Amino acid sequence: MSDEQHTKDNGEQELHDALMREQDEPSNGSSPVPIFILFLFAALCFWGGVYLIQYGGHFHKEAYTFDYNPYAEVVVVQVSLFDRGAKIYNAQCSACHQATGLGIAGAFPPLAGSGWVTDHQESLARILINGLNGPIEVAGKQYNGNMPAFGPNGLNLKPIEIAGVLTYIRQSWGNQASELTEASMIAYMDQYGSRGTPWTAQEVVLDLSPEPVSAAPAAEPVPADAPALETAPTEAAPTEAAAAH
Ligand code: HEC
Repeated sequence: MSDEQHTKDNGEQELHDALMREQDEPSNGSSPVPIFILFLFAALCFWGGVYLIQYGGHFHKEAYTFDYNPYAEVVVVQVSLFDRGAKIYNAQCSACHQATGLGIAGAFPPLAGSGWVTDHQESLARILINGLNGPIEVAGKQYNGNMPAFGPNGLNLKPIEIAGVLTYIRQSWGNQASELTEASMIAYMDQYGSRGTPWTAQEVVLDLSPEPVSAAPAAEPVPADAPALETAPTEAAPTEAAAAH
């Protein structure tokens, strides 16, 4: 072998040695996932979580509408006493007093046009909290039935629910009386909630405290040039109220 040939062979050998060092022979079987991939994956999951919390809109269904703004201020919809009461009326009262408020002749007295509804708040609150039975005259007709209690000893509605339903019946079907606030209802509930027996028509109008000042539409004097529709509702004065019963 010539010298020249020898150096050439050596060169090739070195080249191959280098290649062999750098690249392993491919082999069968599995090798463990490189640790940095695991870290990368964990970091991605974390980022995904943070992203969802920030922009996911708490998975609210609105979040899928195109122009949903997750940072918009939450609007708390205020349900009026009247609207709240309308729902409760339909669920709890309309079976007997009917959706029209006209009741059923001979069995369930009307609430439309009834002085028991539009006169003193306290007697009305008493009827709802403890119920009513025995003979009663409503809008000129006699009834004698049982009105269930809706207070703690009865169907247990919350003060705001009774306030709502009473506001509703005082301002529906042509009735025009003040709303009955939650605060007044809480006070009535404290006073009468523990009573276990229903009222009678005679009893329920006794010892009434003065009407609370309320947002009665009638409270403002009606200007002379006001259109006829806006004239004061006929909320009966206490003396009239007593006469109506
Ligand atoms: C099971 C049937 C029944 C249900 C339900 C009922 N009532 Fe009555 N309600 C009566 C009867 C019967 C009377 C008359 C009681 C009597 O004869 O002493 C009455 C009387 C009344 C009165 C006084 C009389 C009048 O007509 O103005 C009011 C006010 C009244 N109910 C309101 C309500 C409200 C509000 C609800 C729902 C929260 C309701 N009632 C649910 C049967 C019912």
